[in-house]
Amino acid sequence: MSETVFTYAAPGLKFGRGAAQEVGYDVASWGARRVLLVTDPGVAAVGHAATVGDALVRHGLAVTTYDRVRVEPTDASLTDAVDHARQEGPFDAVVAVGGGSAIDTAKAVALLVTNPGELMDYVNAPVGKARAPEQPLLPLVAVPTTTGTGSESTTICVLDVLALKVKTGISHPALRPRLAVVDPSLSATQPPLVTAASGMDILCHALESYTARWYADFDAKTPEQRVPYCGANPIADLWSERALGLLAGAFRRAVRVGGDGARGRRADGDGRHLRRPGLRQRRSAHPARQRLPDRRPGP
Ligand SMILES: NC(=O)c1ccc[n+]([C@@H]2O[C@H](COP(=O)([O-])OP(=O)(O)OC[C@H]3O[C@@H](n4cnc5c(N)ncnc54)[C@H](O)[C@@H]3O)[C@@H](O)[C@H]2O)c1
Repeated sequence: MSETVFTYAAPGLKFGRGAAQEVGYDVASWGARRVLLVTDPGVAAVGHAATVGDALVRHGLAVTTYDRVRVEPTDASLTDAVDHARQEGPFDAVVAVGGGSAIDTAKAVALLVTNPGELMDYVNAPVGKARAPEQPLLPLVAVPTTTGTGSESTTICVLDVLALKVKTGISHPALRPRLAVVDPSLSATQPPLVTAASGMDILCHALESYTARWYADFDAKTPEQRVPYCGANPIADLWSERALGLLAGAFRRAVRVGGDGARGRRADGDGRHLRRPGLRQRRSAHPARQRLPDRRPGP
């Protein structure tokens, strides 16, 4: 029998300039008192970790900062962060400030300070044991400073397992942050190469999602078997189309000008050129789109 159900989930979202200044209010409202702030040295150097730390302290929270996140986390770097948190804790909440590397590191910490066992117990099989968390994780606030991974909204922690030379992850709905605080004034300081890599991340995520196998083409699953990545579906299509359109209008200028300059993209000739041939027109020629009628569930 074919699958008849798809799922959609997202964290709470606070978006806009100045949103990061409000993070203390949100975390304090959950009853938290001690917070672990997780960041990487580059993000700390541009002052974003201090900005968020100050916002937490203003609401009476005690903040301990872990700023040794490795860019492209490994099993060793995640274990270092977890060991630090186990030694310095207990904490009531984790706040990640940075790109996918900091947010994924914070997810591993939130998992392993609340659940028994070690990192590899929870890593996807067959690399790890794919153990499911038994205890609720520490609540996680993700404050992204890059613009591509979407880790602030996903259920995944990506890591390299050094001894095996593989990139894999931990995937479970419990890893999804409770709150995503997306403040564009933080990502405005992204270096051009990081903006470029982030944009390619958006492109790949949107294309993969848009061209994925339709959810109803899979065999039916029980609720326990159902995974967050359930295949293409009407909601994923909406987000993918919108992401591709925004990217077409802003990507080149965002890399070239960066910061606030990217906001002028709609008046930019380059952006017009990218939009004019029409994602809309090209989309109709896309093989996945041509298959759309077949994707709809039968009567
Ligand atoms: N969990 C998920 O769903 C998911 C999805 C895609 C990718 N990932 C993972 O995310 C990681 C990559 O994350 P990323 O691309 O966001 O970059 P990153 O977190 O690795 O950071 C890249 C570099 O940019 C710097 N940086 C970040 N923000 C900055 C800012 N505002 N100003 C100045 N410098 C800044 C950092 O210090 C670092 O040197 C990879 O490990 C990847 O596998 C995770």
